[in-house]
Amino acid sequence: MTNTPLPGHPHVHQRDGALHTEGVRLADLAATHGTPLFVYSKAAMLDALAAYQRGFAGRRAQICYAMKANSTLAVLQLFARAGCGFDIVSGGELQRVLAAGGDPAKVIFSGVGKTRAEMRQALDHGIACFNVESAAELDVLDEVARAHGSRARVSIRVNPDVDAKTHPYISTGLKGNKFGVAHDEALALYRHAARLAGLQVVGIDCHIGSQITDASPYLDAMDRVLDLVDAVEAAGIPIAHIDFGGGLGIVYGAPGDDAPPAADGLWQQLLAKLDARGYGDRLLMIEPGRSLVGNAGLCLTEVLYLKPGTQKNFCIVDAAMNDLPRPAMYQAFHQIVPLAPRADAPAVYDVVGPVCESGDWLGRDRKLAVQPGDHLAVLSAGAYCMSMSSNYNTRGRAAEVLVDGQAAHLIRAREDAQAQMRGESLLPG
Ligand code: LLP
Repeated sequence: MTNTPLPGHPHVHQRDGALHTEGVRLADLAATHGTPLFVYSKAAMLDALAAYQRGFAGRRAQICYAMKANSTLAVLQLFARAGCGFDIVSGGELQRVLAAGGDPAKVIFSGVGKTRAEMRQALDHGIACFNVESAAELDVLDEVARAHGSRARVSIRVNPDVDAKTHPYISTGLKGNKFGVAHDEALALYRHAARLAGLQVVGIDCHIGSQITDASPYLDAMDRVLDLVDAVEAAGIPIAHIDFGGGLGIVYGAPGDDAPPAADGLWQQLLAKLDARGYGDRLLMIEPGRSLVGNAGLCLTEVLYLKPGTQKNFCIVDAAMNDLPRPAMYQAFHQIVPLAPRADAPAVYDVVGPVCESGDWLGRDRKLAVQPGDHLAVLSAGAYCMSMSSNYNTRGRAAEVLVDGQAAHLIRAREDAQAQMRGESLLPG
């Protein structure tokens, strides 16, 4: 019996000519549950978390999983049981945390557009902190908290103006981005916040972008944030926690891509800087999303048709941009591998879905030996796939399975058309 893990995916391996996640044959899952089907490895998620936990060993730290990456209840439950808090960006996400058994006292609330109703809901549940993104939001939160009869714990999200060197849509720490408060305005805003009766200043935060593959933007951002902590505390406002956001990248396996640093190695470097600047004993918070779940998931899809052409060959599969939106949105690369490799000579295909848009592609110019009825796995699909999926073309959301050793748990049933139409009504008469 040979067991060959796929590079970058230690819990996905070829065994006896069949692709497995942990101890489960993926072809069996496709046969039982149909496709498209997301399959997650519990061990891969916990291993990814363990890298951060090792990085923070002996420190006061709270890992708040950025649940926008994958907000399926069972995934949240797994991280809650492992001690994580959550970084949320909506009232709906808070409801998911509660439904999954997460602790609202470990929840931080990010985002530039929190509504008054969302603020009240978060205050009702006593969340740990609001990461405030503007002067206007700060004043509204103060008003809402006073009316609520409570004090909102706040951190100001500082825009450190560093280039995370990632895709422009997911770069957030530059002056031209909509996120955070400009570095040179932050001190004045802290002074203002400290005077408001509805607020209690507890922290500072930043988040510079996503799919970051280099330590240097983190180190630069940390210096900029610590400069502000120096200034804010010199003004008599104590900062209890420092939150460095998320953003660490994963290996997608595109040719020529840089490999991101490992979470524990990155934090060794960052902690050395924190220690050198005298902040090593502060409560540290982070908000990782993709790096906890991205490479723990894949999406199984069936080849429907092969369509040879004069310019391109198309391999048409049953998963589409509504299931896997990252290629259409960011020209993102996901590896695509057959579940059972064929010995035939490969051809070069664009792997595309059934949605009526030329943007509906999953992979371009892929060398594959496939036939209709074969199954493919789209890798690195644990983050920002199901959570960004849609019902475009009235396609139901895919089912999801979580693998734990030899066991496979269905954690989301396939969505049918009835479920999609619930809540709609016809006109009278
Ligand atoms: N904290 C804040 C305030 C964020 O805005 C984000 C992600 C995170 C944490 C988590 O970042 P991560 O560790 O996952 O990189 N849909 C895009 C990614 C959007 C990221 C948005 N913010 C994609 O598929 O690449």
